[in-house]
Amino acid sequence: MDNGLPKHVAIIMDGNGRWAEQRQMPRFAGHRAGVETVRAIVKESARLGIEALTLFAFSTENWRRPRPEVNFLMDLFMSALDQELDELHRRNVRFRVIGDLDGFSRKLRSAIERGVTLTAGNDGLTLVIAVNYGGRWDITQAMRKLGTRIRDGQLAPEEVTLDHIHAELCLNDLPEPDLFIRTGGEHRISNYLLWQLAYTELYFCDCLWPDFDIIQFQRALESYGRRQRRFGMTGLQVEANQGSGALQEMQSGL
Ligand code: FPP
Repeated sequence: MDNGLPKHVAIIMDGNGRWAEQRQMPRFAGHRAGVETVRAIVKESARLGIEALTLFAFSTENWRRPRPEVNFLMDLFMSALDQELDELHRRNVRFRVIGDLDGFSRKLRSAIERGVTLTAGNDGLTLVIAVNYGGRWDITQAMRKLGTRIRDGQLAPEEVTLDHIHAELCLNDLPEPDLFIRTGGEHRISNYLLWQLAYTELYFCDCLWPDFDIIQFQRALESYGRRQRRFGMTGLQVEANQGSGALQEMQSGL
């Protein structure tokens, strides 16, 4: 049933550093405050019955930050995982991670694995944390897998369809994001889910991530609820198809 809510929300949590600088605090303090916002938005998403929430916690480009900040973000992620996992499990949240985990410590990788395994059977909100993730990395790793299948004779190049590409990308088992939110005032996608955002509604707000609360989240959801998604069709066609399920099929474009 269409309750007007997005099934899948993808967020770029921007503005932690500026939030701290405005308070003459070190950038670390902004990231720490950002974790509180993560907690509130995850809880609210689960309460509302949103199916999936994908949060961009660390991009493939974030390694360029000063080493102490990178280390701090890793430690913060690790400790947030330690502290929150039981609560997430209790709330029936399925925890997942996307990104190139090869760059991470063994300790962090096994903590992630523990969390994924513990919550794999849950059927509430799917919480996806994107770490060392980049949309271009995602497309590249998908192309490598497809290339291997072609090399091994399992698939001819002329047989490759959107379906084959989709199947190799991260998040292939989730509905594509309906709503993208970026806090912090920048109007960019910043190498986030490049393929998956093709038909996503974009919402930008000036609010810095630590200040983003459930009222701000509600505003984003309301803005989404007012939009007409046309997937390349005319407004009249969309109205004629409303409720038929055809729109969802078109969204996937597959
Ligand atoms: C962007 O703000 C934020 C990040 C690069 C890190 C986001 C991480 C968290 C919110 C905490 C950890 C997350 C989880 C899932 C536990 P910025 O530093 O780019 O801010 P600025 O643009 O103001 O400098």
